[in-house]
Amino acid sequence: MARPLHRNSPGHRLLPFSVSVRRDFHMHPELGLEEKRTQKVIREHLKALGIRPRNVGGTGVTGLIRGRAEGRTLLLRADMDALPVTEENRVPYASREPGRMHACGHDGHMAVLLSVARHLRETGLPEGNVKLCFQPGEEGFRGAARVIEDGILENPPVDACFALHVWRDLPVGKIAVLPGPCMAATDLFTVRITGKGGHAAYPHLSVDTVAVAAQVVGALQTIVSRQVDPLDTAVVTVGSIRAGTTYNVIPETAVLQGTCRTFRKRTRKLVHRRVKEIAAGVARALGARAEVEYDEFLPATVNDPKAAALAREAAAEVVGARNVVEADPSMGGEDMSLFLERVPGCYAFVGLRNEKRGIRHPHHHPRFDMDEECLAIATDLTLGVVRRFTRR
Ligand code: NI
Repeated sequence: MARPLHRNSPGHRLLPFSVSVRRDFHMHPELGLEEKRTQKVIREHLKALGIRPRNVGGTGVTGLIRGRAEGRTLLLRADMDALPVTEENRVPYASREPGRMHACGHDGHMAVLLSVARHLRETGLPEGNVKLCFQPGEEGFRGAARVIEDGILENPPVDACFALHVWRDLPVGKIAVLPGPCMAATDLFTVRITGKGGHAAYPHLSVDTVAVAAQVVGALQTIVSRQVDPLDTAVVTVGSIRAGTTYNVIPETAVLQGTCRTFRKRTRKLVHRRVKEIAAGVARALGARAEVEYDEFLPATVNDPKAAALAREAAAEVVGARNVVEADPSMGGEDMSLFLERVPGCYAFVGLRNEKRGIRHPHHHPRFDMDEECLAIATDLTLGVVRRFTRR
């Protein structure tokens, strides 16, 4: 397995601190926009480091570290929320809250950012500013939009941004930085089909919304298979169908819900338009009516090529060039995209898997865990990024 090059790096020196901070968050997970305790703990850590904390976006926290000389302002973002999952790991630091778990690794992201802050306060930042952003509600709440509306990109204005995700698809010791899109645009839709209810034995007197819904689901599959450029990528998933109550009644209505994932703006628009046209058109052809609500929820997470190159350089310094890998972009969504839409920057993936230790469960799984070595690597990576991004 790949091992990091620098055993005496700041990330490794701070690892006991990172681990204890991460485990504390892990034991006390809070769901999106409810991160009250988490906010309080972060505020205390920042105060202890002599950084003035300011609440942002409700349950978020920001703080500014000023450098000795003028330079650029880099925003470092860590997400804060846990998931509605009951942990199944039997570890001393397991979640103490049934039905809540840091099953995505955001506990680790916060620990890394606090270690980075600690190192910068201990050694000093030579130039520029580092703006810490502990962001609430990443898991489907668009917490990034809240902190942005709250002015996190101003005073001082942010020149660049960086965030990372500890990543199960990569073994610990590897880092992936993609130039360009790395996570997909995430859109949501609801199709409400209205027909005519009636007795199941007399379909000719009804307009059967179950039959219509089935045709709509089938037809939506042709968007990806027949309309999106085969060299491009998209997903259309219908995740929920609700219609009817029993076997002998034709229901008056049916409701479909789903999500679309794309990388390119053009493709995103195409998929949006086609979902609406197909749902409405198929319903009409079958004598029903379909109303489509389509929510362009999050744009794709797109790395600035220059920022990605700098981050790759920083990554190579930490784990060695051969351990900086090309990963496939993920069809998952990430609200870091909202920062990257406004400010050039980079979103990186830091490996956390360790098969030998049984750490191999996917994100959001009740047995998700991380090889905590990844916290040291992520800290060193972030410090390398700070050095490169705050320079004028
Ligand atoms: Ni996550």
